[in-house]
Amino acid sequence: MATRTERARIESLSELLNRDLDYIAGGLRDEFASMAGKRVLITGGAGFLGYYMVQGVLHWNERASQADRIHLTVFDNYARGVPAWLESLRGRPDLTLVRFDVRDPLPDPMPDFEYIIHAAGIASPIYYRLHPLETMDANIDGLRRLLEYARARRDAKQDFRGFIFYSSSEIYGDPAPDRIPTSEDYRGNVSCTGPRACYDESKRYGETLCVVFARHYGVPVKQVRPFNNYGPGLKISDRRVIPDFARDVMNGRDIVMLSDGKPKRTFCYVADAVIGYYKALVRGGHGEAYNIGVDRPEISMKELADKVVSTARALFDYQGRVILEAPQESDYLVDNPNRRCPDMTKSRTQLGYDPTILVDEGLRRSLIWYHYHPEAEDA
Ligand SMILES: NC(=O)c1ccc[n+]([C@@H]2O[C@H](COP(=O)([O-])OP(=O)(O)OC[C@H]3O[C@@H](n4cnc5c(N)ncnc54)[C@H](O)[C@@H]3O)[C@@H](O)[C@H]2O)c1
Repeated sequence: MATRTERARIESLSELLNRDLDYIAGGLRDEFASMAGKRVLITGGAGFLGYYMVQGVLHWNERASQADRIHLTVFDNYARGVPAWLESLRGRPDLTLVRFDVRDPLPDPMPDFEYIIHAAGIASPIYYRLHPLETMDANIDGLRRLLEYARARRDAKQDFRGFIFYSSSEIYGDPAPDRIPTSEDYRGNVSCTGPRACYDESKRYGETLCVVFARHYGVPVKQVRPFNNYGPGLKISDRRVIPDFARDVMNGRDIVMLSDGKPKRTFCYVADAVIGYYKALVRGGHGEAYNIGVDRPEISMKELADKVVSTARALFDYQGRVILEAPQESDYLVDNPNRRCPDMTKSRTQLGYDPTILVDEGLRRSLIWYHYHPEAEDA
């Protein structure tokens, strides 16, 4: 970056995190209270969504009585290392960290859990195309074993209260224009053989597994479909669009856009999304799918890049501009949806989910977070 002169005030990292964690705990007061004293397994908890899924609960625990504290266990294979933020929490009595690959049989004995959040898997398009079988196995075999575990607990009349599977908005593929915004009943327009199929189709099959376990075996499982979540915790090296733009900003380079800038998306700040996920865990209907995102504003990639430039200019006196470049990978844009925007009616009415941090403010917070994690190979 040319200079790091502050134009707008840049809050400290702890101010930023505390504000988001207070917001999450406030938005989940009833849900966390209903989970008090329970044991929760988060697979993939070392990843981007884990960052606030884990810290949101621990933050709430700090104000809870000892008996009410929610106990979290994270299973993660740490394929890209143990992130520094998670390492710094090691040793807390309300957190257990286990190196575990969800493609393997579950540990024997498996600890008792009342809730399971299955977020382990490869989420970034660049990486899932490089590791298609690993992607499919985590979404299908890993999910199946966890669902069997939940079913066994139900069959044995042990307390088991909720399970969420992280599906994806990608299960809709490239929706027909008249299905934008896209509601949960849209069946999708998805290739089963294209370069993204390992991800999209394994999420679709994963949802079918969830529905079967809910309907036939009474497992209280719900599927969440994230729509372009971003924000603190998303590694700058992750090769998703906002961290890619942030990396250009932090390096003082022009922002390189690897498309014609026309595809449109809505972007959901992670503090809002995490509220949605816990609401789905506690309140969602069994076997039901929920869009977790935001329905406004729907902006093009070019508009997003322009917003990053103007936000970075105000924060850091960034002098770069947006340039277009062809992607190096020939199938980078194959099956890339033209528009993606969720219909939020079901999540709003059934879960009481109401995201409020829109893209301008979310980008501002994200760029500040990247300012403190400029080389964040491990956030
Ligand atoms: N972030 C989004 O906008 C988004 C959008 C759609 C779907 N999702 C889904 O949400 C879930 C979490 O996404 P994220 O953005 O946090 O991804 P992430 O890549 O940041 O985190 C995933 C975590 O899972 C772990 N993991 C991967 N494979 C594993 C395995 N076989 N065993 C154990 N751990 C493994 C990784 O080490 C990582 O810590 C994923 O299932 C993803 O497909 C996310």
